[in-house]
Amino acid sequence: ETGLFTYDSGFTATASCRSAITYIDGDNGVLMYRGYPIEQLAEHSSFLEVAYLLMNGELPGKDDFATFEHEVTHHTMMHEAFRTFLFGFRHDAHPMAMLVGMLGSMASFYHNTLDLEDAEQRRMAAIRLIAKVPTIAAACHRYSIGWPSRYPKNNLEYVTRFLHMMKEVPSEPLELNPVAAKALDLLFILHADHEQNASTSTVRLVGSTGANPYACVAAGVAALWGPAHGGANEAVLKMLEEIGRPDNVQSAVDKAKDKNSGFRLMGFGHRVYKNFDPRAKIIREMCHKVLNELGVNDPLLEVAMKLEEAALKDDYFVQRKLYPNVDFYSGIIYKALGIPTEMFTVMFAIARTAGWVAHWLEQQNDPEAKIGRPRQIYTGYDARDYASIDKR
Ligand code: SDX
Repeated sequence: ETGLFTYDSGFTATASCRSAITYIDGDNGVLMYRGYPIEQLAEHSSFLEVAYLLMNGELPGKDDFATFEHEVTHHTMMHEAFRTFLFGFRHDAHPMAMLVGMLGSMASFYHNTLDLEDAEQRRMAAIRLIAKVPTIAAACHRYSIGWPSRYPKNNLEYVTRFLHMMKEVPSEPLELNPVAAKALDLLFILHADHEQNASTSTVRLVGSTGANPYACVAAGVAALWGPAHGGANEAVLKMLEEIGRPDNVQSAVDKAKDKNSGFRLMGFGHRVYKNFDPRAKIIREMCHKVLNELGVNDPLLEVAMKLEEAALKDDYFVQRKLYPNVDFYSGIIYKALGIPTEMFTVMFAIARTAGWVAHWLEQQNDPEAKIGRPRQIYTGYDARDYASIDKR
């Protein structure tokens, strides 16, 4: 209740806000969305139902879900002029750079009609973001490979619709394996929210100034991109590819223990979890199942398993409570689903948009919420007098 948290490293942090959305117990590896354990949501729910839960605080009844799904489905299109913004990017721009730019510019299409004082308009802005981010993300990917973007098909459910926009090519019918959509839906559930992680705190800090929700989510995407945060899933795959073979694993573990190497095991460690990240456990099991069902035999899975085994029995990692996190195995599944590496963090952003908009709404609806204004410990000079340049 004091709002003061002390990490193992002795670092202390004060709570940046009050929130009823997600609960984490880092010592015991517990994660709950609105009181529902992540394991149960992973087994029984869908990403869109979880998005409703995060936004509204309760699981929807049949009619409420049908209404929510209809609203999201009918806001998936991009304004045609908005689509042309893509052509301003270099063809080889990283999709996260494009996503930041496209989301920030989304304000120019929807912000001037948005009255932030109106709760229904705030809710619709949240719906627009959940609905349009997959369309924008797929268009960014297709632009980077020189393909025309695809319009969202409203007869498809949320994740299948996204995969269709990502993969459908004019010259041949798209064969979508239902395993792929189910696997991606589960990954989206696991990535939907995570308390005050860096990107969600960024969204809340920007939102506390009264900035529009599109700018808030664009700021969240920018924060997520970093390799210490959401960019880790892309970095994990690059690390596994560099390790290459199981017999190179021990040298990678030894290098990660050498402070001078500047190398860390990507996908390991967490600011809050000092036990297994519950999402990593679910993703690890899913990895084996999805690769078997898709008939994919990826040698990187064996490298990942050996790396995990070696690290979990190494004192350096055990003493520092460094366990695999959500990013450790997810990249192997994305790769098996045919998602290109540079799109891995974009996948994370699509899912986390549900959490970001839920936190933004919670903050906007909180009459006690104040502008975020972190303080600092000043380590600079004491007061001193100006010296003219000929005296310096
Ligand atoms: C996400 O906050 C969230 O909730 C984020 C997230 C979400 O859903 O939003 O969960 C998603 O961002 C997961 C994290 C993805 N990042 C990575 O996998 C990058 C690799 N991990 C590290 O950079 C690191 O573990 C952090 C940044 C994730 C957490 O860092 P901490 O808890 O601040 O750890 P630290 O930097 O204080 O390190 C403690 C010790 C240090 O050694 P000592 O100084 O005590 O000798 O552990 C070492 C670190 O050098 N260490 C690692 C390590 N992570 C920490 N050593 C090797 N490999 C690692 N991965």
